[in-house]
Amino acid sequence: MKASGTRIINLAFESSCDDFSCSVLLKGENGVKILSNIIYSQDYIHGIYGGVVPELASRNHIKASLPALGLAVSEAGINLKDVNLISATAGPGLVGSLLIGLMEAKTASFALNIPLARINHIEGHIFSPFLETGETPEHFPFIALVISGGHTHIYLVKSHNDIRLVGRTRDDACGELFDKVSNYLGFGYPGGKIIDELAEKGSAGAFKFPFPMMHSRNPDMSFSGLKTAVVYAIDKLGGPEKIQENTARDISASLRETVAEILYKKTADACRIYGVKTVAVSGGVSANSRIRSIFNEKGIKNGLKIIFPSVKYSTDNAAMIGYAGFFKTPVHPVENREDFFNINADPSWEL
Ligand code: KG4
Ligand code: ZN
Repeated sequence: MKASGTRIINLAFESSCDDFSCSVLLKGENGVKILSNIIYSQDYIHGIYGGVVPELASRNHIKASLPALGLAVSEAGINLKDVNLISATAGPGLVGSLLIGLMEAKTASFALNIPLARINHIEGHIFSPFLETGETPEHFPFIALVISGGHTHIYLVKSHNDIRLVGRTRDDACGELFDKVSNYLGFGYPGGKIIDELAEKGSAGAFKFPFPMMHSRNPDMSFSGLKTAVVYAIDKLGGPEKIQENTARDISASLRETVAEILYKKTADACRIYGVKTVAVSGGVSANSRIRSIFNEKGIKNGLKIIFPSVKYSTDNAAMIGYAGFFKTPVHPVENREDFFNINADPSWEL
């Protein structure tokens, strides 16, 4: 990789779902610095449909792709010629969406004659809690809890190349649960932030929701029974249209509390089973204020070090993809010509 001194300027792309993001990162002697992180959100488009419409996501990524690149480069105060590494999400995600960012990255890599690091989106989330503080080795091994619209996964992370799945939801992801309840109540998509805000003024003890798989011996989880219990509670009160704002606040607070308790218990179980003392929580749902406070309060009591990314790096962003890119062996468009041309999106890429 052609780098000036020890400086690497990394141009990163993320487009796995409904956000198109482009970021520039600098790795120098003093660690990693995020020079820009541009995100084109499509929440206002998909909100109308109550969830992501894949075809609309990819079509709107096409519109965002060049402006995002231009803004990321100009905000970083660099020239494209300064870039010496490109990183891009190659999966998992929506194939049409993935292809827009990945092909833009491939084109840039080929045109600039610099290597391309192919990044797993979940790996981006896993290391995002370290994005702003720098290196991870001092924290290995750690337990990574990735909570998003599509994932509720627990990993044992021993190094950048040794990541093992040790627990997961058996059905819905916890972000999906928040999104579905918000939609059912008529509050729209994406629902996690809406439920979180409603919950702030609600009573967490007002409704007693179940804790699925509480006594199971492994860190697997299940959220679909909890979703049914919430829908049942709403229907018992006459259905969504009969729910007053105060009741919606209480339902949101009780649901948020239950989800936070489940996530903490299962993560703490994983720490105990694998003898690990550090936890890194990431993914869009890690923006949740109660999940943050429960993990921080209980973590201290149990002697666990809990690390979250800033809220702006919890949801999908290209900065986390660039950060993961620094630890990968990239593929050069000329030196590794065949491998380079074979780079493709993998919508169901499992870590
Ligand atoms: O990581 P992310 O941006 O995209 C995926 O890879 O899925 O996560 C999106 C998810 C959505 O389900 C959204 O409702 C949820 O993150 N989310 C939240 C909050 N902000 C976003 N969930 C709970 N509390 C929040 N404050
Ligand atoms: Zn994500």
